[in-house]
Amino acid sequence: MPRPTSPSGILEWISRSTRPRAADASTLRFERMASQSAAGMPGIHVPLDPRRPDHWRQRALIWDYVLSLEGAHRVLDIGPGDGWPSLLLAPHCSEVVGIEPGPRRTAACRDNAARLRVANARFEEMSACALGFRDASFDGVVAATSIEQTPEPAAALREAFRVLRPGGVLRMSFELLGDDPEPVREAVSVRRAVDGSYLVDYTATFSRAYEQRDFMIEVAPLSPAVERRLASWAERCAGDEYPHRDPRLERGLTRTILELGPGDVRRARGLLLRHFRPDRLARTLAGLGFADVRLIAGGGRPAEMLARDLVRAERIAAAAPLMDDLCRACAVVGLALEDPRGGQVIARKPPRPAARRPARAPARGRRA
Ligand SMILES: C[S@@+](CC[C@H](N)C(=O)[O-])C[C@H]1O[C@@H](n2cnc3c(N)ncnc32)[C@H](O)[C@@H]1O
Repeated sequence: MPRPTSPSGILEWISRSTRPRAADASTLRFERMASQSAAGMPGIHVPLDPRRPDHWRQRALIWDYVLSLEGAHRVLDIGPGDGWPSLLLAPHCSEVVGIEPGPRRTAACRDNAARLRVANARFEEMSACALGFRDASFDGVVAATSIEQTPEPAAALREAFRVLRPGGVLRMSFELLGDDPEPVREAVSVRRAVDGSYLVDYTATFSRAYEQRDFMIEVAPLSPAVERRLASWAERCAGDEYPHRDPRLERGLTRTILELGPGDVRRARGLLLRHFRPDRLARTLAGLGFADVRLIAGGGRPAEMLARDLVRAERIAAAAPLMDDLCRACAVVGLALEDPRGGQVIARKPPRPAARRPARAPARGRRA
């Protein structure tokens, strides 16, 4: 297999100058964020704004999950991040249990639940790959772009199957890399660590290969000139929770990184995430025993498209009072439409076969 290359040259620099230790997405990325969603989740951090098509998408996706779960009482949410969708599903179920592998995300979910006064959602520190719940203990399982972030997605899906009761539903959204018109997307940033060293964050996403490579590299530059440049970049990147600068635009930062030699690098950690190809995901689910596996459009996209049309037609303000009803209708439509490019899947654990009644013995005196 050819080695992946990056337009900026940073990936090649990483192979030349560092020996990254393997890390997982939770430690490398999500546990380092104060908010997993830049404190912008509608319904959790900010009120729903009917003028924003992305808020229509989020609202419709909640309706889609609610309808998918068919009145489930006890729901497991894998990887809620800041509490999404747990906190918005809670009014529709008896209990939602959200699991996150690290303390920071778990605490963020609990804080948001307390602030929003959601009493029937609880959050536990646990990995999706080894769930501490009994078999068949949930009526429904949701996972919003989280399974692909776990160290072993196949194990997480197996666990989801195990904890679902027979007849229970798995509703999962996943990041669809394959549709990105850009074959490679990169992002980079640098910040100062408490001990005075610098942490370089770098991500390269390869859409065709459905792969993402993430690195965190701790550097202590030997050259004072390079250190001054890194310090000034760290100031400019301050506030970046996750690398989001395009290295091709931030040429000065890229050049500074490429000038660092192996002697400047203290430690490096890295991660290769293999994202789902929709057809393979459907086959994996079927292989685990799930029935009625369907790749669907999901409610989010139709709602966002509708809202965009309403914005274009300058009718969005008029539609605002109908937002919730229209989002629910879009969820019904999105659940009915098959779409392998939707990044949405629904599957059911087969119901327990009905117990066979013993054949009735022929009544005495009658002919069989
Ligand atoms: C892209 S975020 C999605 C968060 C949230 N569901 C949302 O849609 O806003 C992925 C989440 O999966 C969580 N995650 C990573 N590894 C996990 C694991 N082994 N078990 C459970 N969750 C995990 C991350 O901590 C992160 O919060």
